[in-house]
Amino acid sequence: MNSSPRWFLLLVLMLLPVLMIACGDDDDDNDDDNAGDDDTNDDDIDDDVSSDDDSVDDDDDDTIDDDTIDDDTIDDDTDDDDTGDDDITPIDCPAVITRQPYLQLATQTGIHVLWRSDQEGDSLVEWGETEDLGEYVYDESFTDKHELVIEGLEPGTEYFYKARTCLDETTVASFRTAPQPGTPFNFVGFGDNQDGWETFTEIAALMYDKHPWLAMSVGDIVDDGWHLEDFEQQLFGPGEDLWREAPLYVSIGNHEGLAPNFFDAFHFPNDDKAYYSFTWGNVFFLCLALDTWHIAIPGTPQYKYMVQELSSDAAQNADFRVVFFHTPPWTEGWDSYDGEWYVRMFTVPVMEQHNVDVYFNGHTHDYERGLRNGVASYIIGGAGGGLDSWARDVEHITVYQAIHHFVNVSVDDSTMRIDAIDLDGNIFDTYTISK
Ligand SMILES: [Fe+2]
Repeated sequence: MNSSPRWFLLLVLMLLPVLMIACGDDDDDNDDDNAGDDDTNDDDIDDDVSSDDDSVDDDDDDTIDDDTIDDDTIDDDTDDDDTGDDDITPIDCPAVITRQPYLQLATQTGIHVLWRSDQEGDSLVEWGETEDLGEYVYDESFTDKHELVIEGLEPGTEYFYKARTCLDETTVASFRTAPQPGTPFNFVGFGDNQDGWETFTEIAALMYDKHPWLAMSVGDIVDDGWHLEDFEQQLFGPGEDLWREAPLYVSIGNHEGLAPNFFDAFHFPNDDKAYYSFTWGNVFFLCLALDTWHIAIPGTPQYKYMVQELSSDAAQNADFRVVFFHTPPWTEGWDSYDGEWYVRMFTVPVMEQHNVDVYFNGHTHDYERGLRNGVASYIIGGAGGGLDSWARDVEHITVYQAIHHFVNVSVDDSTMRIDAIDLDGNIFDTYTISK
């Protein structure tokens, strides 16, 4: 009577390591885990990797077998991270790419490439260090929401790629992986493009001209998150050249609502949560979900996450700490709205306490810059939506402009320079933060 459960438990314990290996999780860091393990499109890729050297092996023989297998594939090991033996002859199927490739979850060693097609088809990304490409990742399963992971990359390096579904193929674009600390880079920031897609088309072109390594949105990327067509008309269409080259990191805005379309469009670093962190060079980024739908007050998971992330070694060892979220604690624009009380009460003190250098917001459609207790604050809500006008004076906000704009942020090992740029491409405000 008692022995059966014991034997069953013993059997489960014996099988547990094998099951864990078969699932493909090893000692990679969180970024790598997020970058590869939790979406269906990765399954074939991971299967190919694990079938080479994991699930077939006995645990005790891992080292020997791995070496042997690596020797077998040494001539094409880098491109065979994924699907070296696949037949990638184009499949004669009718799907057409309707959303150009865009990039998510860039790390120092990998990146996700996503795109959409009008009906289901296969997924291929050819990539390489030159425009000749030469490597590939392939998933033969049919889908209209494509996502492939390129792995085994070098930090701070430019790679070229193109995507293909059925017989439809994109042109070649390039991206850069996250650099190691010490590598200068730039990123762009914008907010509240929402229904102003014609203006945002101009803003996106200006941002593209800055050749940014990544792009940051402070939310309201669409007018109505429940309307799928808004994502194409107002975000992915106007910025398609930019999104193909600069990984896009979005903080959710109130116009996105809680619509599945929003969470479906992006692959966030922190599972499916709209708050997350990542490090790029010497900059630690924290994105919060503060948009009138989400709050972060003591006791909530997001508040705990905020404190945990800003206290982390990754944050405190970085040269600069940047936080971005939608709703501002204070604003000089919009006469019936003066900011969010819970952001003033619970978010600002935590940022000040953890030496955040700068935070970016949107929600009001204007440009504002301030400085309070050593933390610079920005509202960059002028990427397309109708502009608000000045409504009140806030003591620590010293610059106000009701114009359409974006920011280009240049980072080196000692300074972060933030240029605000108008629709004519002119810099109308500059501020530099020194380490
Ligand atoms: Fe908003």
